[in-house]
This record gives sequence, structure tokens and C-alpha cells, in this order.
Amino acid sequence: MIKKGVILAGGTGSRLAPMTKVTNKHLLPVYNKPMIYYPIDTLKKSGVTELLIITGTESAGDFMKLLGSGDELGVHITFRVQEGTAGIADALKLAENFVGNENFAVILGDNIYEENFKTIIQNFTNGAHIFLQEVEYADRFGVATLNEKNEVITIVEKPHTPETNFAVTGLYVYDSSVFKKLEIVEVSNRGEYEITDVNQMYIDDSQMTASFLEKGWNDAGTHESLFYASKLARAMALEAQ
Ligand code: G1P
Repeated sequence: MIKKGVILAGGTGSRLAPMTKVTNKHLLPVYNKPMIYYPIDTLKKSGVTELLIITGTESAGDFMKLLGSGDELGVHITFRVQEGTAGIADALKLAENFVGNENFAVILGDNIYEENFKTIIQNFTNGAHIFLQEVEYADRFGVATLNEKNEVITIVEKPHTPETNFAVTGLYVYDSSVFKKLEIVEVSNRGEYEITDVNQMYIDDSQMTASFLEKGWNDAGTHESLFYASKLARAMALEAQ
């Protein structure tokens, strides 16, 4: 049973400038709610209600003001602050004490999902699991190649010429061996510690499983994708009425 989830909400949000000049990206509106509400809801709907939010020094106070203990949203939230912006895999190291030796979920704070992940997350036993979606332009994502058995054999971070259109979306399920992998991951040529390199280690150990999304997904990291994320959020809100 997975109860714990980590929401990564750091970074500078430079691709959304100037909106992110004074406001953290994950606090920007997506249709009728701040962006961070969506990953919280995705985890909650999966039965994951013990949450750790990792964010940068500049906006930690804003997140606390908005979310408090999580009571109002029906979850329990604790916070950790990432000094600097050395990438997703660097931020995730801060979750080690919170996670201990349990299995857990990680979601990027700008990923908006329509899907319910309860079955997959709660049936997870060991290794890692990722969620793929076919996209038109894969070059701004981690891109997966699969073999004939539909197993992931490589993931490349933001390739100039993607081999497939299968984007690795921003939800990951891990066992606690991820923390050993985070210790040895090396800085990439864009100067960050990449979650993709951690995932590749699981693939190399034959410990990675993957599934394709069946419903809508958007990462809200660019002006265009934020616009589409708002449209998706609106459709979800209207459907829920
Ligand atoms: C990150 C990951 C990338 C993934 C994407 C999904 O990229 O590095 O592999 O496909 O999230 O949103 P970022 O958007 O943080 O550059």
C-alpha cells in the first residue's frame, strides 16, 4: 500500500517568464485553481495522502500560506526547501527521510492528469513505474523507446531528433532503492541532475515497468502547454459537475 507522495515544485519556471518573475510557476492559475492543486488531487485520488512538497527558498512561504497543513484538501502536507535549482533528481534526494524504506509516488508539480492511477499505484510492488503518452512534439520531454514486448529500453532527455513520440510524463512510482541511485547520478550536459538518468538505471537493472495513459495529460511548463492545461482542467471541471 502506497501512502506517501512527493510533489516537486521547485525550479525557476523560466519558460513561463514574465509570469514567473514574482510568482512560483506552480502557483499560477490553471483554469480555476492554482497549478499545484492538480498534482495534489492526482495523488489523493490514488490513495496517496501523506505528501511532501519540495520547493525553492523564494516561494516556500507562499506554498505554506496557500496549502497550510493540507487539511482543507483532505491530505497531510509537509514541506522541504531545495537550495538552488540543480534539477529534479537533486530535489528528490530531500525526500529520503520522509520516505524511509517505503514505496512512494513522485509527481512533477506542473503535470495535469485526467487519469485515475489508483490501481497501478496501489498494486506496485518494487522497482519503478513510469507513464507514457504519445505526443506530437516529443523533443521537450524524456522520450522512451520500446522493444517488441512493449518494454522500455531507453529514455533520452529532450533529444533533438526523438526516436519515438512516446513522452515520459511527470509521474513516477519508486521503491526506496531510488535514493542509492540518486547518490550516483551524474550531472547532465545541461547542468542538471536528471530524473531520466535515474529511470535509465532502473531500466538497466530490468526493474522498470511502464504503462500508457488512456486520458488527457499536459505539463504546464510553457505558455502554449499552460494554455492547453487550462483547457483540459476546464473540461475536467465541467465533467465533474
Ligand atoms: C521533466 C523531465 C522530462 C519529462 C517532463 C514531463 O522535464 O525531465 O523527462 O518528460 O518533465 O513534464 P521539464 O519539463 O522539467 O524540463
